[in-house]
Amino acid sequence: MNTTLLMCDAHHFRIDYEINPYMRTSVQPNLAAAVAEHEAIIAAHQAAGRTVERLASRPDCPDMVYTANAAVVRGGRAVLAKLPAERDAETPHHRAWLTDRGLDVLDVPYAFSGQGDALACGDLLFTGYGQRTDRRVHAVLAEYLGYQIVPLRTVSQRWYDLDLAVAVISNPHTVAYCPDALDTPSRGRLRELGLDLIEVSVDEASRFALNLISDGGTVTMSTGAPVFAAELRARGFRVVELDTSELRKGGGGIRCTALTLDNPIAVRSS
Ligand code: ARG
Repeated sequence: MNTTLLMCDAHHFRIDYEINPYMRTSVQPNLAAAVAEHEAIIAAHQAAGRTVERLASRPDCPDMVYTANAAVVRGGRAVLAKLPAERDAETPHHRAWLTDRGLDVLDVPYAFSGQGDALACGDLLFTGYGQRTDRRVHAVLAEYLGYQIVPLRTVSQRWYDLDLAVAVISNPHTVAYCPDALDTPSRGRLRELGLDLIEVSVDEASRFALNLISDGGTVTMSTGAPVFAAELRARGFRVVELDTSELRKGGGGIRCTALTLDNPIAVRSS
């Protein structure tokens, strides 16, 4: 999992609007530093043996660096996101790339944050709702992509996308999450799945600790979460920590910058 990724670039990254609690138009990224940070993430993926496919960012799309929000992809199919109006201009570029790659692309008539709110774990799909995703999308994801939906609701805008509060570490067993970021029924749903769960503190999760990419062997994550990183190492994962202080100004981290293209098809969790 996570060995083929779609990423844009940070050349047009800036804060033009405030659609999550981390964005401040008065706090702009340093462009050269953001580009360097983004290139270091790509280099880390490649060093871990992952393939990074590329889509050029556009001048009128300042959030395009957060490519995870484009869609959710499984096999030859993709469900395209329906992003906040401020990010609307990104969607035709996402659609064109996915279609050119030969995928069947489905549109949804409801708000949908793409993979930001749809994290695959084998046949399970941890699916956010109530912030950037309308719950009615869940049935579409189940039907079109063949997933068993595990609806998870976060408790504040601080976790506007589920990928800030939950991370799939290895398929199908290890999942990390911040218990305080989820409402009580959601915590219950996650706990009854029989997974190996790692709990992450609000403190570390707020520094985007869970916004990571794992291929099941190497975990690529942000610096600033030493307790969680130590926990991962203790379980035998290789952990690579990277500075994401510029990307953070837009309210995202490593997971946000890459759309997974190789979510396994019809895996049976034993
Ligand atoms: N500025 C972007 C937005 O608010 C950040 C998106 C981060 N993506 C993510 N998957 N969490 O839409």
